[in-house]
Amino acid sequence: MANNARILGIESSCDDTAAAVVANGKVLSSEIFSQQVHTRFGGVVPELASRAHQQRIVPVVRTALQKAGVAPSDLTAVAVTRGPGLAGSLLVGLGFARAYAFGLGVPVVGINHLEGHICSALIGRDLPEHPWLCLIVSGGHTQLALVEEGLALRILGTTRDDAAGEAFDKVARLLDLGYPGGPAIDRLAAQGDPAFYPFPRARLDGYDFSFSGLKTSVLYYLNGLGEKKREALLQRRLSDICASFQEAVVDMLIDALHRAIGETGVRDVHVVGGVSANSRLRQRAETLGETCGVRMHIPPPAYCIDNAAMIAFAAYIRLSIGQTDLPDNPVAEPNLPLATFP
Ligand SMILES: Nc1ncnc2c1ncn2[C@@H]1O[C@H](COP(=O)(O)OP(=O)(O)OP(=O)(O)O)[C@@H](O)[C@H]1O
Ligand SMILES: [Mg+2]
Repeated sequence: MANNARILGIESSCDDTAAAVVANGKVLSSEIFSQQVHTRFGGVVPELASRAHQQRIVPVVRTALQKAGVAPSDLTAVAVTRGPGLAGSLLVGLGFARAYAFGLGVPVVGINHLEGHICSALIGRDLPEHPWLCLIVSGGHTQLALVEEGLALRILGTTRDDAAGEAFDKVARLLDLGYPGGPAIDRLAAQGDPAFYPFPRARLDGYDFSFSGLKTSVLYYLNGLGEKKREALLQRRLSDICASFQEAVVDMLIDALHRAIGETGVRDVHVVGGVSANSRLRQRAETLGETCGVRMHIPPPAYCIDNAAMIAFAAYIRLSIGQTDLPDNPVAEPNLPLATFP
């Protein structure tokens, strides 16, 4: 099946409406409509997200099929995100995917969004030998995992409070940079001095992460200045503050990766999820890979953020490794955890 698979992928777990076509492991198209309606609210408004998905899903799917040059009747399966995510957003993608697949008479495969992120680093290459390390850094998750068999993994560490992307978004809000904050901080930080202010780095036992103390320290730092000084500083040193905050986040992630590479002896490391689009993290991870002699795989930025190519590709991989017992009647599972080993 996998060798002749032509899979339509659909992703609608949060605020991106996305569709993609993957044929025989090649991405033929990947369309993303990023909802702008949330920008003025400083975060995703679930009700508006589901309405926007409903408006965009048909045109996005149509464009993905047209760009791929694939007729609906050529599809062999539909893959769709079943969770985790916002219930109302997931339901739009799932409802569409199930009806579309039913109409075509093909199976619909429910995919875990986080597994999609993990597979985003596998697009265009063969599966590495097990075990391999995967750092998932996104808007809702920060997890360091060892992939031990198939796509099943052992979680080595997870965040105890905010996710890395959430920290970027919350600090961006403090700095009035809009939503999502990660790309804005990344852009400003490129001109800034990462040593301008020594924001704290949390170092927990094992591989767990914590980012809320860092976010609070940015808040206290700004509040402690008083209004006049704060405004002057934000005018003159905004990029330095962004660079200092970003460096603290990246230090914590790289420190955990470094220790895990040493302790597990893996040869392949993946960094995935929206925050893996961060230019400083990418640079530091590449350097770490060279220093430790491991292959560092970070997807191109278009596959770091939410997209449907990773969803279709995850279905392709599962079918390729003979896992055909995929949920074929998927329902929305907003709190779906990652598949763990054993
Ligand atoms: N260049 C960047 N630098 C830092 N953070 C970034 C960058 N680009 C995107 N992000 C962050 O990535 C997050 C979005 O990632 P993603 O779309 O994977 O998250 P999500 O799908 O909302 O959450 P999850 O995947 O955990 O369910 C946002 O928090 C955003 O600020
Ligand atoms: Mg995501």
